[in-house]
Amino acid sequence: MPQASSTAGSPPATDPIAGSAAYPLGSRVNAAGHLEVGGCDIVDVAREFGTPAYVYAPDDIRARARAYLDALRGRDGDFEVLYASKAAPISAVYDVCREEGLSADVASGGELHAAIRAGFEPSRIYMHGNNKSGAELREAFDAGVGCLVVDSLDEIALADSLLERDQDVLIRLTPGIKPSTHSYIQTGQLDSKFGFGIEGGAAERAVAAVQASRHLRLAGFHAHLGSQIMELDSYPAAMEVMADFCRRYEPRVMNVGGGLGIAYDDTDLPPSIEEFVAVNVDAVAAAFDPVPKILFEPGRSLVGNAGVTVYSVGTVKEVEGIRTYVAVDGGMSDNLRPMLYGSRYEAVIADRAGESPNRTVTIAGKHCESGDIIARDVELADPRPGDVLVTPATGAYGYAMANNYNGVPRPPVVFCGDGEAKAVVRRETYEDLVARDV
Ligand code: LLP
Repeated sequence: MPQASSTAGSPPATDPIAGSAAYPLGSRVNAAGHLEVGGCDIVDVAREFGTPAYVYAPDDIRARARAYLDALRGRDGDFEVLYASKAAPISAVYDVCREEGLSADVASGGELHAAIRAGFEPSRIYMHGNNKSGAELREAFDAGVGCLVVDSLDEIALADSLLERDQDVLIRLTPGIKPSTHSYIQTGQLDSKFGFGIEGGAAERAVAAVQASRHLRLAGFHAHLGSQIMELDSYPAAMEVMADFCRRYEPRVMNVGGGLGIAYDDTDLPPSIEEFVAVNVDAVAAAFDPVPKILFEPGRSLVGNAGVTVYSVGTVKEVEGIRTYVAVDGGMSDNLRPMLYGSRYEAVIADRAGESPNRTVTIAGKHCESGDIIARDVELADPRPGDVLVTPATGAYGYAMANNYNGVPRPPVVFCGDGEAKAVVRRETYEDLVARDV
C-alpha cells in the first residue's frame, strides 16, 4: 500500500504526476502520455462520462482512513475516527469510510440522512451544527445518534425539551486559539459563531445547563480549531487551555476536531496524518488522568487529495501582452474555493501530462463573473480547445459546495480504481434544474 502521508516518498523525477502530493495516490503518466488516476486513463474517462466530472480514487480515501487508524493502533487508549462528511457528502464516499471502520460527523439533517442511508450505525454518528432546528434535533434523536455536539444554550434547552430519554452530548468549546489559515475557516477563536468560549464563562454556563437538564448527559467536550491547518502547534496549545477547563468534569470523551491541511500543489508540505495523530494523542494524554477516549474528525485530509476535477478546454484567448485565458466547461459552480478563499490550484493537460509545460495561463470558468477564475498563472503544456484539463486536490469541499449558477448542471462523481471507472453520482440534467419549480 502506498504511504498516505502527503510528505512521504519521492517518486520518479521523470513522472511529474507521481511526484506530486496533490494527486490521488497511484496517479501517474501512462504509456500514452495521459494522466492516469486509479488505473484509468483520464482522457478515456472524460470521453465516457463527459466533462466536467469529479473523479475520485477510492483507494486513496481508504489508504488515508487506514493511516489514521494505523497511527492510533500503536497507541494506548480508546479512539474513534469520524469522517467529517461535509467535505464530500457522497453516498459512495460514506460507504468507503464506513467500510474502513470510521464513524461519521454530520452537520445537518441532510448529512444525517445520507449517513444513515449509507448504513452507519446511528450510535457512531455525531451530530454538529451551530443552529440545529427542532426538526433536525428530532431526526437525530429518532435515529438514535450516539452523540449530540451542543453549540448554544438555546440548543441545550430545545434538545432537552424534545427528549424523552437520556442523550450523550459533547459541549463544543472555543479555546481562543487562532490557527494560521483563512479567517473564514478559523473556528477556534473566541469571536466565533460556534461553541462556547472558555474565557468569559460561557463554557461553564453550558456545563451547568447540561447538568441541570433532564436528559442531557455530559460525555465530554469538542473543539475544532479550523481547516487546512499546516502547522500543528495550535493543537497542543488549544488542548492545554481546554484541559484546564475540562479536567474538573472528568470527561469520558475529548474530540479534537479535524483541520489537517493537504497539498494543493507541489509547494504545499502539510504535516502527515501520523504527525497530526501523534501531536493530538500526546496533548490529550499529557493533560488528563485518566485519559479520555480521543475522537478525531478529519474531512479534507481523508478525501481532498483523493479527488480531481476533469474539464474540457473550450477556448484559449490571448490578451496580447497581458495574459492567456484558458476557459473550461465548469468553474465556480463546481469549485467555489478560489472565489471564496482565494485558494490556489494547479492544473495539467491530461492529454499531454508528461510534457513539460511551456505556457503560463489563467484558467477561467464559464460563468458570468470576471472573478470566476479556477487558477491564475499556472503552467500548461500548449493548451488547445478540446483538451482535457484536470485540477487536482478538489476532493474536499468541491462537490460539497457545488451550485447551479447560470443553470449549469452539477457534474457527476466517477470512482476510478483498478482500472475500472464507474459513476457513483450521475450528472444533473436540465430537467433536474427545474424539477422543484411549482
Ligand atoms: N469538524 C467540524 C466541527 C468542522 O466544522 C469541520 C469543518 C471538520 C470537522 C472537518 O474539517 P477538515 O478536516 O475538513 O478541515 N469549505 C471550507 C472548509 C470548511 C470546513 C468546515 N468545517 C473549504 O473549502 O476550505
